[in-house]
Amino acid sequence: MGAPRRITKYVPPALLLAVLLGLCRMAAPQLACPIEEPEAPPPAPDNDPTALIAGGTPAVPCRYSYMASLAIEMFGLNHICGGTLVHESWILTAASCVDPQFTARDVSNPMALLNGLEWSKPETFRENIATVAEELQVHPSYKGDPDSGYNVALLKLEVPSNQTPVALIAPGEDLQADELVAMAGWGRSAGTGAFSATLLEATDIQLVDPDACTGFGVEDNTKVFCTGFGDKSSCKGDEGGPVLRRGENASEDVQVGVVTTQLINGVASCGLFGRPAKFTGLSHLIEWIGETVNGTT
Ligand SMILES: *[C@@H]1O[C@H](CO)[C@@H](O)[C@H](O)[C@H]1NC(C)=O
Repeated sequence: MGAPRRITKYVPPALLLAVLLGLCRMAAPQLACPIEEPEAPPPAPDNDPTALIAGGTPAVPCRYSYMASLAIEMFGLNHICGGTLVHESWILTAASCVDPQFTARDVSNPMALLNGLEWSKPETFRENIATVAEELQVHPSYKGDPDSGYNVALLKLEVPSNQTPVALIAPGEDLQADELVAMAGWGRSAGTGAFSATLLEATDIQLVDPDACTGFGVEDNTKVFCTGFGDKSSCKGDEGGPVLRRGENASEDVQVGVVTTQLINGVASCGLFGRPAKFTGLSHLIEWIGETVNGTT
């Protein structure tokens, strides 16, 4: 495997933004999970039963403390994708979220909210921002196809996080055909509408037989997997977030995949019966992740 290409070395953010973020950080250092002040009970889930994160329910605050929301400034701070802390200084996400070659958004200065908190509380959000400024590494085999099996990228945080990174599946370890997994994200809870203000979780989602997945734009079903066929699914805004073997708590979770886009034949599809939700498996990517975060490339 060749050396990962460095897409770009980000220039420092605009001075004003840097000053503002600096002040925020001084005034309110990153909160650690568990947060001390009791949170208000999470709001009722969206009532669209077809939708995950469509089909999901609000996660307990801090349950997914390694979870990141990637956001960009665009007339305010806007969530674009999920991600996970896989090392104190690195966030794993989908390449389709952040690769400037293949996304129309301006992703030159992404920010990450850690702790899996609520978007409905912008102040909490700003206090938990870690700027993602130092480095972007896109997998060298990603060429713009979200379902190639290499739709992953790593973003280096400017300031290391105080959260515990999520554990990853062992290299080469297989997923079982009928395994139950979980997902979490701030994505839409239905095919249209706004992103969710609350981190939603969907548990006990069954993997689909890899052969049944092949017809949905998946070329290599040992690298890209499908879940469900409509009851619970990832949706727009969940890309980059984790697919998990879920334990009792964050320290027992094991990330086995990264949510990819929900495009099937070029059409966005989520929470639709007969349409699977796809994700990139991680077991063939562990070596690249290790080399990248340990700086051995
Ligand atoms: C997580 O759950 C396991 C199993 O129930 C338990 O042993 C461990 O203490 C828990 N860890 C935390 C941080 O709560």
